[in-house]
Amino acid sequence: MNIILLGPPGAGKGTLANKIKENKNAVQIATGDIFRYNISNETELGLRAKEYMDKGDLVPDELTVDLVWDAFDKIEKNNSQDNIVLFDGFPRTIDQASALDKGMEERGQQIDHVVYFDIDEEILIHRITGRRVCPNCGATFHIENNPPKLEGICDVCGTKLIQRNDDNEETVKNRIDIYKSQTSVLIDYYKDKGILISIDGANSPEEVFEEFCDKLGV
Ligand code: AP5
Ligand code: MG
Ligand code: ZN
Repeated sequence: MNIILLGPPGAGKGTLANKIKENKNAVQIATGDIFRYNISNETELGLRAKEYMDKGDLVPDELTVDLVWDAFDKIEKNNSQDNIVLFDGFPRTIDQASALDKGMEERGQQIDHVVYFDIDEEILIHRITGRRVCPNCGATFHIENNPPKLEGICDVCGTKLIQRNDDNEETVKNRIDIYKSQTSVLIDYYKDKGILISIDGANSPEEVFEEFCDKLGV
């Protein structure tokens, strides 16, 4: 089952993806995470992506689409067909959505559901500026909503938590503007295809996960 997690920055896409992975047979393709991995390893892709990400702009499609297929084809090769594949942060433009449709068709596959996080803008800024992440295992925390047991330390692996480079108020505002101007059109794009499911992103992570399972019947 191929599922897109669609929503603005800070809506909880990564948090829901982690919960699904903990509880179901699922794998995640998160373009933002792939870019950050490349940045920390100082690859050529990382160096090119960084200049866009630090400003909160979108990385160009020609750097993005191929890496999604690399990840997807690797998953298909290694796992059985009944896994859930979660697309987190992709597609983000109409062109990316068309490329995804085309590539799925070529592979005899389809996007089964698009889970849209319905959420107010004020909540997003509070969530993002308070987010702390583990540079080692990727676990995500929030200084108020979901604090680690020991301040500044990852519960999972004990590594010192960091703040993402693009998690400052100025960059967040640009990311939200870009979401509105380039990504939010995908809501209607998938509504028209009859595969959009809305969930209330303002609820707690547990409630979001419950609504996801109920509405998708998984
Ligand atoms: P990306 O990494 O995808 O960032 P984003 O879309 O801005 O989304 P976030 O990761 O910030 O938010 P999230 O929805 O995952 O929220 P989270 O669960 O962490 O992309 C980063 C950049 O990479 C882009 O700006 C762009 O430059 C580039 N990029 C990536 N993909 C691209 C593409 N396809 N094309 C071009 N460029 C691309 O939660 C946020 C916080 O809230 C956390 O602290 C969490 O603990 C807390 N929280 C989460 N859920 C809840 C809840 N239910 N209640 C209370 N708190 C919650
Ligand atoms: Mg994320
Ligand atoms: Zn960790």
